[in-house]
Amino acid sequence: MLKGYLKTRAALVEEMMDSLVPAQGVQPPIIFEAMRYSLFAGGKRLRPILLMASAEAVGADGKQFLHVASGLEMVHTYSLIHDDLPAMDDDDYRRGKLTNHKVYGEGIAILAGDGLLTAAFQAILEQPGIDAGVLLAVAQEVATASGAYGMVGGQALDLISEGKMINSDTLCFMHRAKTGALFRGAVRSGAILAKADPEQLAALTRYSEQFGLAFQITDDILDVVGTQESIGKPVGSDEKNQKATYVSLYSLEQARMMAQTAVDEALAALSVFGPTANVLRELVKQLIARDH
Ligand code: IPE
Ligand code: IPE
Ligand code: MG
Ligand code: MG
Ligand code: MG
Repeated sequence: MLKGYLKTRAALVEEMMDSLVPAQGVQPPIIFEAMRYSLFAGGKRLRPILLMASAEAVGADGKQFLHVASGLEMVHTYSLIHDDLPAMDDDDYRRGKLTNHKVYGEGIAILAGDGLLTAAFQAILEQPGIDAGVLLAVAQEVATASGAYGMVGGQALDLISEGKMINSDTLCFMHRAKTGALFRGAVRSGAILAKADPEQLAALTRYSEQFGLAFQITDDILDVVGTQESIGKPVGSDEKNQKATYVSLYSLEQARMMAQTAVDEALAALSVFGPTANVLRELVKQLIARDH
């Protein structure tokens, strides 16, 4: 059931992104081509799917919010292009293909990221059928999640922590920011769009924070035990860059246990919901078992 849901939702997001970042009739073609190269290289589309599933937990039809959902995937894809740059993680493969800068050069890759970040907010603000006040709240939510208070701040901490032993609190803060913030922004945006009440919003926020933590711990584990074929990006990137990760600070076994604890807490947070939250439950349960 979940597999079919994920496939059809991903296809809807891709269709929307295809119209938001067109291939034809645009100038200069190179920047649109570079943006589309990374957008359509694959990817699980988890953030937009979480936005829709969160809205559904509250009783709305998540498919109404495809502009905002696609905007989140565009912010995420920009973060990946910049994360792979030589000045950051210096990786050659992403989503099973050469990284953006390997194909288009560093200058265009930086601009493709900038273009995607900006186009994301354009898409969010063009979301039809939503009250302007609600849309404003969602734009603020995504901006906070993406910038220095969220993903960008976490990425900065990740960079300055290379080669250092950081303590467990700092590591947790870094993961919550660099990866967790965007998941939190996605889930909260879905809830806000669906007019969640304060109790529902608080529950979904707790779910998303634990989801994000479990997700990045698993990403750290896959960097060690995964295969390039399945994860679509180089294995051992973290060790190469002397990154502080859950696997460098703890054992693999401890990291797995911590991810499991976060999954359990995410599930517990959903106790205020009935079956409408079943997709959210399935999504977090399959996190630990994922191989990509
Ligand atoms: C990878 O995210 C970057 C992290 C935040 C760990 P995903 O694993 O969601 O990457 P895609 O979108 O499926 O390629
Ligand atoms: C990066 O974490 C998270 C982002 C904000 C892009 P990683 O550097 O571990 O992500 P991967 O493993 O390259 O996808
Ligand atoms: Mg990184
Ligand atoms: Mg990386
Ligand atoms: Mg990683």
